[in-house]
Amino acid sequence: MKSTTQTIPEHTSLPRHIAIIMDGNGRWAKKRFMPRVLGHKKGLDRLFEMVDYCHQIGIRNLTVFAFSTENWRRPEEEVSFLMGLFMKMLQEKVRGMHQKNYRLKVIGYRHRLSTQVRELVEETEQLTANNTGITFTIAVDYGGRQDLLQAVNQLLQTGVKEVTEDNLREYIALGNEPEVDLLIRTGGESRISNFMLWQLAYSEFYFTDTLWPDFTDKHLDEAIQSFQLRERRFGRTGEQLPPEEQRPD
Ligand code: IPE
Ligand code: IPE
Ligand code: MG
Repeated sequence: MKSTTQTIPEHTSLPRHIAIIMDGNGRWAKKRFMPRVLGHKKGLDRLFEMVDYCHQIGIRNLTVFAFSTENWRRPEEEVSFLMGLFMKMLQEKVRGMHQKNYRLKVIGYRHRLSTQVRELVEETEQLTANNTGITFTIAVDYGGRQDLLQAVNQLLQTGVKEVTEDNLREYIALGNEPEVDLLIRTGGESRISNFMLWQLAYSEFYFTDTLWPDFTDKHLDEAIQSFQLRERRFGRTGEQLPPEEQRPD
């Protein structure tokens, strides 16, 4: 077995696209006898540091799950706090990220967001559309099943006779971005919770008990190292892979 160290080796198998289900904010706060929402605040601070770190080490795409279609079921107070945080982020952080050359995208149902948030999202995407640094995507009011359904419905409206992988991909969120190589879920649960069902078809999964606000750059290094030890066969046998893609014994 390859030995693991705390630093990321210069390696060709750095994941191009990392997706993160940022779970555990509520429990992080509860452990400290604080209201859940303070866990979300801390989680958001952590997220900005993580984007910078990913950009710095050369990750091309980072996609994070911030609010699911099912999260509307939470107490109204928590939902409005989360929406408020998202708006504050758009208002206060976007300029800085634009200056750092990051491209920002938001995926999910737009029409359920307030008009003000929707406008901010549109402005942000336009402002950063031509940036060439990391593509940072935030999934808000996002559900994997809904993503597939809206894609099929949009495709049907074009009048096509047959749904194919290629024509459907055009309408799926991030369909034209590199596929997700590594999915990380913090917070101890081993499930997808309706995240990107299509896009995760061949992703490597990494589940950790670490709660999202505690998930440091070092933890990310560990996830990447775990990814680098995987043998990605995509249906083939290990022997069919070129030597550099075979898992060392
Ligand atoms: C994830 O943290 C953030 C959102 C779902 C918005 P949680 O709020 O789910 O935290 P736990 O799972 O209750 O600890
Ligand atoms: C998944 O976390 C959604 C986000 C992290 C935004 P949840 O905490 O909502 O997932 P479940 O309900 O435990 O599956
Ligand atoms: Mg949770």
